[in-house]
Amino acid sequence: MPQHTDNDFGLIGLAVMGQNLVLNVESRGFSVSVYNRSPEPTEAFVAAHPGRRIFGFHSLADFVASLSRPRRVMLMVKAGAAVDAVIAQLIPLLDADDIVIDGGNSLYSDTERRDAWLAGLPDKPLRFIGAGVSGGEEGARKGPAIMPGGPASTWDAMRPVFEAIAAKVDGQPCVAHIGPGGAGHYVKMIHNGIEYGDMQLICEAYALFQAAGMSCDEMAAVFAQWNQGALQSYLIEITAKALAERDAESGRPVVELILDKAGQKGTGQWTLVNAAENAVVVSTINAAVEARVLSSMKAQRLAASSRLQGPNPTIGLARASLVAQVHDALYASKIVSYAQGLDLMRTMGQKKDWGLDLAVIARIWRGGCIIRARFLNHIAAAYQADPALANLMLAPFFQEVLNRSQQAWRQVVALAVTQGIAVPAFSASLAYYDSYRSAHLPANLLQAQRDFFGAHTYERIDKPAGQWFHTAWPEVIE
Ligand code: 6PG
Repeated sequence: MPQHTDNDFGLIGLAVMGQNLVLNVESRGFSVSVYNRSPEPTEAFVAAHPGRRIFGFHSLADFVASLSRPRRVMLMVKAGAAVDAVIAQLIPLLDADDIVIDGGNSLYSDTERRDAWLAGLPDKPLRFIGAGVSGGEEGARKGPAIMPGGPASTWDAMRPVFEAIAAKVDGQPCVAHIGPGGAGHYVKMIHNGIEYGDMQLICEAYALFQAAGMSCDEMAAVFAQWNQGALQSYLIEITAKALAERDAESGRPVVELILDKAGQKGTGQWTLVNAAENAVVVSTINAAVEARVLSSMKAQRLAASSRLQGPNPTIGLARASLVAQVHDALYASKIVSYAQGLDLMRTMGQKKDWGLDLAVIARIWRGGCIIRARFLNHIAAAYQADPALANLMLAPFFQEVLNRSQQAWRQVVALAVTQGIAVPAFSASLAYYDSYRSAHLPANLLQAQRDFFGAHTYERIDKPAGQWFHTAWPEVIE
């Protein structure tokens, strides 16, 4: 293999994302050294791209030695133990101030641990960046959204590369310094939770259209049309394209041939765990994760389908009205889902003192990433206008959309419930909306129950806040 030294950038892990990132980095004028644990992918990858300034190495020591200083080494390996293993191998080969970037979907707390580990090496502190990278294969190649977390000085050193390879929207790169430590991977985790919500909401619209007897081609046309309006987004776009795709063998829509069991790799579940730890409601994302779990219980669902009763869905509503109402339900639910994800980010950002700028985060999500959407322009504008915004639903733009959509949203959820069509994310979003906008909730009775069985005390509406009361409730005779 050609040996070339003084390369600008190194990448370890030549799976699809890694390969595409290398091609992207090289295409922006940087020379790249690559290394993979097994040598064959390195050979094949370098051979497949003759004439490019991509240099393969079979020994990690040679790979490290080929890089200019401070070295910039990006890991694109499977999140978890593999990241620690590669870092442990790299440490003896690197010099003080070299930079290690983890571009996988690592758990933010692992990133914090690795950051402390590398910065704390007694003889030669290393610099670490945990960078969320979103956009799939195509994004990696043409321009992903990048969410780097780590010290500001390390961001400065990485900035030219990151800005060169990131997607651009209105000439602005879809990358920004998110914050210290695990902030970047944390924000990527929230991105993925929101991605889960978006995907599930689209699937619920599909379920309603299916029940109304629409063909995949008809649905494809609806999603394609929605992609021209307020719902314009990558996920709506690919949904339209996926629905239109035909199986070469049978001529049937491919989507109809795919088994209805959803997979997941864990970032959605991490979001739920973190939300529970912070007592933040992310009910739409929760519904989306749980919908995947329930879908995966195919054998149980099949058995139950002949034993547990429900209506046979018949949707009599005129097609155009159904499409219009589902559009509004999807838009409103999407706003709620983002409101929840942003609330969790804001809460956690404050707790960790990360200094997260929600306007900047919304801005970099406008391009490159899986949740990219026109709608994010309005989110960025909302937080720019009011960085202390308590909830996205209260921004004037979104308030107006919700007020305009809420009636259709209710009709869609009511229709689904009466027809026995599960719409967990639409209905969880609507329940959040209705709870959030309620000046009164039945929690007074709940407080009575708590005080009854546990003397937990309660505040009164006719007394100043902060004064706690207990009632001598009647005894329960068993
Ligand atoms: C992205 C995606 C990506 C994620 C896949 C799979 O932003 O590019 O979020 O990082 O790995 O979408 O996620 P699941 O397997 O959990 O659906």
